[in-house]
Amino acid sequence: MKIVFDIGGSVLVPDKPDVGFIEEIAYQLTKISEDHEIAVVVGGGKIAREYINAARAFTQNETFKDYIGIHITRANAMLLIAALREKAYPFVVSDFRKAWEVMQLKKIPIMGGTHPGHTTDAVAALLAEYLQADLLVIVTNVDGVYDSDPRKNPNAKKLEKISTEQLVEIAMQSESKAGGSGVVDALAAKFIQRGKIRTLVIGKEDARNLFDVIKGKHSGTLVEP
Ligand code: UTP
Repeated sequence: MKIVFDIGGSVLVPDKPDVGFIEEIAYQLTKISEDHEIAVVVGGGKIAREYINAARAFTQNETFKDYIGIHITRANAMLLIAALREKAYPFVVSDFRKAWEVMQLKKIPIMGGTHPGHTTDAVAALLAEYLQADLLVIVTNVDGVYDSDPRKNPNAKKLEKISTEQLVEIAMQSESKAGGSGVVDALAAKFIQRGKIRTLVIGKEDARNLFDVIKGKHSGTLVEP
């Protein structure tokens, strides 16, 4: 299979880099890469948000702040590259075609952000579309897609299986609320729908065993076109 992994910054670098988790993920990815073609996108997490908030004191320029976020995602990507050692291409990849080229060399391409105006979820969805991946695995700080925000609604129900249309609907609902950030951002959901990408949304605990996750053993949400 060809698989794209989208690892949220909040999972990899919650307050500071989770070294143990990065090591576990690197081990799982290495094992998976023996039988599958894989690419990885890494997010910015809390550190990106802190830098962006700090920059608000000096500038109103959102695009400028996005560039700051992109730099942080790339610093996180460098950490994963370090953990993957010679399995990873040693530079952070910033172009989908380069990611493809790196995969032909049997190395794992690691991407962070690319351009201002979206998040790394959107990057991962576009990469999966570009590579015609069989599966996109989104690792986030919620353990799946819920019918409402589980951090606010104790009665929220986790959905085992949804369509890409339902994902778009749910992502749009949470996006429209002030300060609301859904489990998958709305633009990424749109790209997943457009690319008809089979997607798994899982949490950090499942991610510790990505090897089983790709075989279907997980407690997250399967999104099917
Ligand atoms: P993230 O993808 O980490 O955003 O990018 P996030 O929604 O906070 O995701 P988690 O917490 O990691 O799961 C951080 C910031 O970097 C900029 C945006 O400002 C984004 O909010 N960014 C990232 C871009 O402008 N373009 C990109 O391609 C990626």
